[in-house]
Amino acid sequence: MNKSPDAHRMEKIVSLCKRRGFIFQSSEIYGGLNGCWDYGPLGVELKRNLKNYWWRVMVHERDDVVGMDGSILMNRAVWKASGHEDTFTDPMVDCRSCKARLRADQLVEKNGIKQRPNCGGKDLTTPRAFNLMFKTFVGATEDESSLTYLRPETAQAIFVQFKNILEVSRKKLPFGIAQIGKAFRNEINPRNFTFRSREFEQMELEYFCRAEEGMRWLDYWKEERLKFYENIGIARDNLHALTVPDEERAFYSKGTYDIEYDFPFGRQELEGVAYRTDYDLSQHQKASGKSLEYFDEETKQRFIPHVVEPSAGVDRTVLALICEAYSEDEAPDEKGKMETRIVLRFHPRIAPIKCAVFPLLKNKEPLVAKAKEIVALLRPHMYVFYDEVGAIGRRYRRQDEIGTPFGVTVDFETLGEKDPALRDTVTLRDRDSMKQERVPVKDLPGILVSRIS
Ligand code: GAP
Repeated sequence: MNKSPDAHRMEKIVSLCKRRGFIFQSSEIYGGLNGCWDYGPLGVELKRNLKNYWWRVMVHERDDVVGMDGSILMNRAVWKASGHEDTFTDPMVDCRSCKARLRADQLVEKNGIKQRPNCGGKDLTTPRAFNLMFKTFVGATEDESSLTYLRPETAQAIFVQFKNILEVSRKKLPFGIAQIGKAFRNEINPRNFTFRSREFEQMELEYFCRAEEGMRWLDYWKEERLKFYENIGIARDNLHALTVPDEERAFYSKGTYDIEYDFPFGRQELEGVAYRTDYDLSQHQKASGKSLEYFDEETKQRFIPHVVEPSAGVDRTVLALICEAYSEDEAPDEKGKMETRIVLRFHPRIAPIKCAVFPLLKNKEPLVAKAKEIVALLRPHMYVFYDEVGAIGRRYRRQDEIGTPFGVTVDFETLGEKDPALRDTVTLRDRDSMKQERVPVKDLPGILVSRIS
């Protein structure tokens, strides 16, 4: 069967991720572990740049948000009170024909009969609830008293620390608490590369407000989050804000948007923006017996704030960034013959390596020395890569393929050998247009910083 162009594109992306060191299968030499992934040297930079930018716009550039970093293991009581222990489940069926286990919503219906899409098996067990939390034991005994879970979302740490953070930050409503961290879900069918994993990272904001302002803040955050994705290079046309219908929303939510992206494997959720009302704080107040109320000094009223939660997946966004950036075009090779060029057109702000520095020839000591001087000049400001191996065109191609937006070449003009007026200038190449401009070395840090921030 011929693969669809999108499936083919996805295969090329997965292969590039491995070949160039973005993403590897976890425990690969032992056959891997389904739903777990490792980020290689370039993947970790991309992920870090994404998280840093999220933190910058969600925390540092605002007066009304502070951050926290909670532990992954928490008291089991948290998961009882939040409802996760009883209800964080997927309905699951077993196919008796091929012995596969799958989510009930993945069955297809033909002539009114449910069946498994792959094998067509109709002999299925009735759906059973399967809890997605990973169990673990804290301390030396392995019994009910020491049982807890790896957190399935970062949000609960924010709710249970609400009072402490309110007191130390002295914030007034509306204000938010942001967190980035690992979450774990024992997904029944991890799939689509890193899209649905068992271990992943979330970037979550809990934005506390008055009940009457909840719907307004929900719309505000939906718009802010769409802007965020555009600012990291995702085209608005590939983003969609879906209003989650009443019957699909959590029972406590008064409104939810899913921000979706057109992945090669279909339109899928990147982030949920949910108005969770006062459900979480109320649950924890009830279960812990500790007040989680807010005291309004002006009106002298005490109440439990409502919350709007933009909750994004780091790994899904990284995957969207790679899918969005992947492109192929035509460029001349060393001999002027046109060849296919693979380019990751990352926004400079999130590109793993910002600038590559090349001496034109590696066996000309003054060129090498000058190039290394430029590396040292740029390093305090950005992640720079030095490369002296191979023809210059090949070196450009290698950087294009990993999405480095700028290349600096040190040539004989830089040394002042051809035209003294060009001494201490270099060529600065733009990855996308492939245009080159001549710029003074001393101006490089300023020019590049303005283009990558
Ligand atoms: N605190 C709310 C919450 O966790 P969610 O919609 O279950 O809401 C939020 O998750 C985001 O976390 C999702 O939009 C997605 O980006 C990411 N996410 C959830 N499950 C994931 C998984 N199995 N693999 C990768 N990312 C996941």
